[in-house]
Amino acid sequence: MNRPRVIERLLCPHCGRMGFSGLSDLDRCLSERSLSCAECSKEYGVVDGIIDFCGRRGSLSGVNYDAPGWRAAERNRERMYETANEFNDEWLLSLPFPSRGTDTTFHSGGGAIGRNFLDLMQTIRLESGETVLDLAAGTAWTSREFARRGCDVVCTDIRTIKYHGLRSAEAYINAGEKGFYRICWRFGPIPFLSETFDLVCCQSAFQYVDSLEQMVAEIRRVLKPGGLFLLPWTGVTAPFKSAKWGPGHRLHEYLGAFRKGGFDARACPPLALYQQSIEVLRSRGGIALLLARLWSAVTLRSEAAQSAAAKILGGAMSRLFGAPTNFICTRR
Ligand SMILES: C[S@@+](CC[C@H](N)C(=O)[O-])C[C@H]1O[C@@H](n2cnc3c(N)ncnc32)[C@H](O)[C@@H]1O
Ligand SMILES: [Zn+2]
Repeated sequence: MNRPRVIERLLCPHCGRMGFSGLSDLDRCLSERSLSCAECSKEYGVVDGIIDFCGRRGSLSGVNYDAPGWRAAERNRERMYETANEFNDEWLLSLPFPSRGTDTTFHSGGGAIGRNFLDLMQTIRLESGETVLDLAAGTAWTSREFARRGCDVVCTDIRTIKYHGLRSAEAYINAGEKGFYRICWRFGPIPFLSETFDLVCCQSAFQYVDSLEQMVAEIRRVLKPGGLFLLPWTGVTAPFKSAKWGPGHRLHEYLGAFRKGGFDARACPPLALYQQSIEVLRSRGGIALLLARLWSAVTLRSEAAQSAAAKILGGAMSRLFGAPTNFICTRR
């Protein structure tokens, strides 16, 4: 059976209707063109293959996107990252386990973020051909993972700059990987017909959402019944948290918003993070080594003991110290 492509369910952010001229032959690559709404005639640029649904975005990553020379400024900034941080296509292709050079805040965690995501892929068991919306995907390595599993993927972020934002996907396209659509978009209304996606993913970014209630309602709208909303490694606000990213939300606020918003939701601590922390403790000796041994004594008993221990420890770490957590939410 020939499924309709997910991009054919795109809505015009201006009038909310479906139907773009120029969409049917839009490829997932690097084209420069524009899309025009058949209903209200509004034009949207497609720059470097990325559909611009953001319009004015102000300054991001040191580039003023509202100034006329923003493209040259963006390229200059990318070159600065290449020199100062040794970023290049090879580095992007090595994500989520950066081959060398500085870990950015996006990919730090000594590999635990990548391992956690791959663990979640085992848990949820995606099927080839499923439709995926990846929100605030940054360098889009998670979108690449979904595309590698045969999914029809739409990737979004407010940032386009290479090494932080959607232009990073050029490295994957040039390496011959399966492509995905990219939309420059900010948290808010989602420009797709209702019940379009099997999975919506948002890794390390839901802490930037201002109104949990509104964003959760939009995500529920675009998910098919029984669809999954997956939030790997989400930032949590807590009483003893030192660093704070974005507005931030507490563990119970996230769970409350998901459950009230029509999801069966559970927090599922990233085992990879706790395993890594135990390795660090082990190397320190003294009381830290004792704690690490205690953990091993409990968790080596069985997988069930390991996930129960991570759940208790992870819940307390997130509630008190804002340790990142995963949420797995199923649309009721
Ligand atoms: C910590 S990064 C995570 C990126 C990616 N999901 C990953 O795991 O590698 C947070 C992302 O949220 C994006 N972001 C922040 N505020 C946003 C907004 N209002 N709308 C859309 N994206 C936003 C940033 O541009 C950034 O790419
Ligand atoms: Zn329109």
